[in-house]
Amino acid sequence: MKPTRIVSIIGTGSYVPEKVLTNHDLEEIVETSDEWIHSRTGMRERHIAAANQATSDLGTEAAKAALADAGIAAEELDLLIVATLSPDMFFPSTACFVQERIGAKNAFCYDLGAACSGFLYALDTAKNQIISGAVKTALVIGAEKMSTFIDWEDRGTCILFGDGAGAAVLQAGGEGRGIMKSVMGSDGSLADLLWIPGGGSRNPVSHEMIDQRQHYLKMQGREVFKHAVVRMTEAVIEALEKNNVTLDEIKCLIPHQANIRIIGAIAKRLGVGDRMYTNVEKYANTSSAALAIALDEAVKDGTIQRGDLVALTVFGGGFTWGASVLEWSK
Ligand code: UT7
Repeated sequence: MKPTRIVSIIGTGSYVPEKVLTNHDLEEIVETSDEWIHSRTGMRERHIAAANQATSDLGTEAAKAALADAGIAAEELDLLIVATLSPDMFFPSTACFVQERIGAKNAFCYDLGAACSGFLYALDTAKNQIISGAVKTALVIGAEKMSTFIDWEDRGTCILFGDGAGAAVLQAGGEGRGIMKSVMGSDGSLADLLWIPGGGSRNPVSHEMIDQRQHYLKMQGREVFKHAVVRMTEAVIEALEKNNVTLDEIKCLIPHQANIRIIGAIAKRLGVGDRMYTNVEKYANTSSAALAIALDEAVKDGTIQRGDLVALTVFGGGFTWGASVLEWSK
């Protein structure tokens, strides 16, 4: 395969599980209210996977939809990346389970860990694999079963997350500029503001660890909020500069869907008004799936059309963040 300069998204898909958990349902689980959740986060409901559905099952549904949208067979995939912080198990990778389910027997597969920023990181990684000529067609998935890893006794976090998956098929070539240059950053000094501290090699599974509920997600919400606004705003500005694109040329900006107030603060700083895409009301924060689901929905509902320039931005645990620009050509 020859190196290429253009890499395009030729299909997208997404999936959310059937069960809907509303803010009113949460009132029965922790001391909270629909009014508090909606005014502080913009969320009304989220989807929760069934007990027998793992992250790879959600990713498989999104993958099938993206392949159908792209009009290609799974055998044509050379690379499959799953971005997730809620894998089926430590190993093998969730990507290998998805591979088996969809029949992508010619792809090599791995998971990518960048918390909520994972889908953008994976998109950039796959794009560069294609640019190098190493692969021609790649499937990138953001999939999460967050409901397994949140503490249903902690009202500060359990109201915020939902389950779901989104996917995109990338291929060399296409009209327009395709996926353009990204900017990405990380700051490991702030890891303890958003993490799951137990269950790994640092703090292995033990009765004591579980009694202390260390196997659940912990977050310093207010601190994370501030960093998310600053990092995503800066990343968008840098990505536009890097690609010689002005904000006026951007038809739609899709941010990580963590909180409507974070999205509003970024919109205000950038001055983009209603060009910000949001679906946080319906799905809450689905971590690495959020950007992937929003991209699929923005394409399917006609917000993004052929020739449009779209900016993407993410922020998550690590901390990790990033932004990218693409020209939609499908
Ligand atoms: O995906 C990765 C990125 N994640 C994020 O970006 C999340 C960022 N953080 C946030 O979205 C917000 O910080 C939250 C939505 C988590 C919290 O909103 P906040 O405005 O920062 O509220 P707070 O944490 O400062 O809490 C305010 C009050 C507290 O009570 P006191 O101490 O003022 O009496 C909390 O105990 O609200 C209380 N509170 C709740 N009340 C009702 C916290 N959670 C709840 C709740 N229902 N679910």
